[in-house]
Amino acid sequence: MKVLVIGGGAREHALCRSLSQDPAVTELHCAPGNAGIAQVATVHPVDQLDGAQVLALSQRLAADLVVVGPEAPLVAGVADPLRAAGIPVFGPSAEAAQLEGSKAFAKDVMAAAGVPTALSYVCTTPAEAAEALDAFGAPYVVKDDGLAAGKGVVVTSDRAAALAHAASCDRVVIEEYLDGPEVSLFAITDGVTVVPLQPAQDFKRALDGDEGPNTGGMGAYSPLPWAPEGLVAEVLEHVLQPTVDELRRRGSTFSGLLYAGLALTSRGTRVIEFNARFGDPETQVVLARLRTPLAGVLLAAANGSLAALEPLRWDDGAAVTVVVAAEGYPAAPRSGDPIEGLEKAEAADGTVFVLHAGTRADEEGRVLSAGGRVLSVTGTGADLAQARDRAYAGVAEIRLDGSQHRTDIALKAARQQAGE
Ligand code: AMP
Ligand code: GLY
Repeated sequence: MKVLVIGGGAREHALCRSLSQDPAVTELHCAPGNAGIAQVATVHPVDQLDGAQVLALSQRLAADLVVVGPEAPLVAGVADPLRAAGIPVFGPSAEAAQLEGSKAFAKDVMAAAGVPTALSYVCTTPAEAAEALDAFGAPYVVKDDGLAAGKGVVVTSDRAAALAHAASCDRVVIEEYLDGPEVSLFAITDGVTVVPLQPAQDFKRALDGDEGPNTGGMGAYSPLPWAPEGLVAEVLEHVLQPTVDELRRRGSTFSGLLYAGLALTSRGTRVIEFNARFGDPETQVVLARLRTPLAGVLLAAANGSLAALEPLRWDDGAAVTVVVAAEGYPAAPRSGDPIEGLEKAEAADGTVFVLHAGTRADEEGRVLSAGGRVLSVTGTGADLAQARDRAYAGVAEIRLDGSQHRTDIALKAARQQAGE
């Protein structure tokens, strides 16, 4: 099978790593890719937001499957011309990707499907925003309606800051504050059948102890030893399946990866947000535990045959990933610095591996930082403590001037799992 992956972040590197280990994959391509992806796939300099360019490349390569990774090309509709040309594509249409592209659309779908989520108002003027903030009280949750790479959400008890964020966006969703731990649950769907993956937890704040600004995600782990039994079945029944059914009913069939960001509140499970693609960095840990070869699963979603797929097989152990970010991330990341220690960070037996996010190679083949989240180091092991130790041992080998990472990824969960 010839597979083309669209995108160039750590999520696409994780996808390419898993696909490169699948014996069914005979050729692996990625566009545009990055310095790390170039080690496992042939990379192509293509504008990932340009559907015509992506279609032309897919046809030239005679790709049997195209996997569209990030939200920006999905929301821009890059999957649509591929599907129209009869190419199996993993990733929703532009219409279905509105589930991530517009928080107001997602709220509307959830209301129609009876999916539990935070109460919310859509506001377009400062007066509306002020009224909504006062209706819910502190802490305030203000979300830019459009795509913002995980940085459009402000959660604060400072009313002035909440109002200022609302004023900086055209349209905002203001909603009730959800307490309780967060869970990311991904599901693969062909628009009818929904196959959940293993839950993971992301660390959204920049600093240890969940301090600092929201980011795209600073680390993740799986499994979640503290998660209630039956969580996946409950979310499948009350969140994932009804959402997929509602989108099909509207004529906007969703095929690809449905990501439910959940809060396990004192009043039950609530959806914080949907995404229309694999999460980053959760994908690093979820795919690290998936034993079923990936290409067949993605192809079954693309061609509508998920119902016939064997149950997924999972590693019983654990995976922990730690993001290494550039100085200044998320506000103003610095770039262009050399990264050293990449090879030393990895374990020869595959229990520790580095995935590139914002990197590029210079003319001499040196790897330079080229983005906010630069790379992630994933460790696997028998339990979270071992996976965590391995991931951090890898991080300790990375040399990047001014870089930052959290030191407490999966710490609490590892202690809990060890019975401490
Ligand atoms: P989102 O982009 O919607 O996932 O929001 C980013 C992060 O903001 C989430 O992962 C939560 O940590 C936080 N957040 C979003 N909505 C809420 C809410 N209603 N209550 C509490 N925290 C929230
Ligand atoms: N880890 C959060 C996201 O992918 O949106």
